[in-house]
Amino acid sequence: MSKLDIAIAGELNLDLILYGLPEQMPTERELLASGFTITLGSSSAILAHNLAALGSRVGFVTKVGKDSFGTMAMERLRDGGVDLARVAYGEKSGVTFILPHASQRHILTYPGTISELRFEDLDLDYLASARHFHLSSLFLQRELLPDVPELFRRMKSAGLTTSLDTNDDPDDRWDCVLDEILPHVDILLPNQREAMRMSQADDVETALSRLARKVETVVVKMGAGGAVAVRGGRRFSAPAVPVTVVDPIGAGDSFDAGFLHQFLRGADLTTCLAYGNLCGAFSTTACGGTEAFRDAARMQEFLRRHGAGNQA
Ligand SMILES: Nc1ncnc2c1ncn2[C@@H]1O[C@H](COP(=O)(O)OP(=O)(O)OP(=O)(O)O)[C@@H](O)[C@H]1O
Ligand SMILES: [Mg+2]
Repeated sequence: MSKLDIAIAGELNLDLILYGLPEQMPTERELLASGFTITLGSSSAILAHNLAALGSRVGFVTKVGKDSFGTMAMERLRDGGVDLARVAYGEKSGVTFILPHASQRHILTYPGTISELRFEDLDLDYLASARHFHLSSLFLQRELLPDVPELFRRMKSAGLTTSLDTNDDPDDRWDCVLDEILPHVDILLPNQREAMRMSQADDVETALSRLARKVETVVVKMGAGGAVAVRGGRRFSAPAVPVTVVDPIGAGDSFDAGFLHQFLRGADLTTCLAYGNLCGAFSTTACGGTEAFRDAARMQEFLRRHGAGNQA
């Protein structure tokens, strides 16, 4: 039996979240927030953390600065039970400031080491020792991007199953190496906007059918609308779980964690979708992307209350 259930390559940074700032933010004024949290950020790291919290054996390969923010981010992952044996070090850790307003939010990122992970930094044997390989935030991996098709090809030929959550393309071009990557991806996990942008479709159903021609399992996350999926010409859907939302940061990554945790246990697609929705919803009940999952007792209680306690 391999040591790791899943190996994840990707970015690592902290999120600094300022709650309660005014909707309009004039310059040269002192604007007061009503709340502040420093928490683990970055799609890849949130996924790694929450998968480990659910009970999967997770290896995370990343690049981080030798500074206090990098150290704190690593500690959060280590405390969460993520294997960090193959982390590379760079100059300065990246950081994201999130300013949630009433309906919209500002997201400001200094990339630092987020975009500096290179193909040469990856221990391919370590990655291939897992049963499954996942990559998040494709377009933030500026150094790695040209080599991502080869990375996926190697993982597939080593016998792993694979998944990809591109997240947004900051340039909104969607024209990079995606067409070369998708033939080596088993599960694609975009949200609805991303699904439409990457398939040049005007609606989700067209996006689903176009992407399903390229990838075996396409899963589209739809926020409070739950999630839909297509596999083998069959369409599946699952409703969101109603919750009182603190913030939606990391809901998509937490959905991925729930979905992949069940996939790795051999569950059927309906179960994977339902568990994804459950974990996405649970994430929104606390600050940031991992705070809910750091409270193991609360997580188990939430899963049990929704009839899924024995699946973690
Ligand atoms: N308001 C909500 N109520 C209940 N569940 C939610 C809510 N928002 C998100 N979710 C759950 O989280 C999942 C992922 O959310 P979303 O569609 O916003 O992903 P995303 O845009 O990829 O998120 P991220 O910003 O983390 O990348 C949804 O499919 C749903 O299951
Ligand atoms: Mg997302």
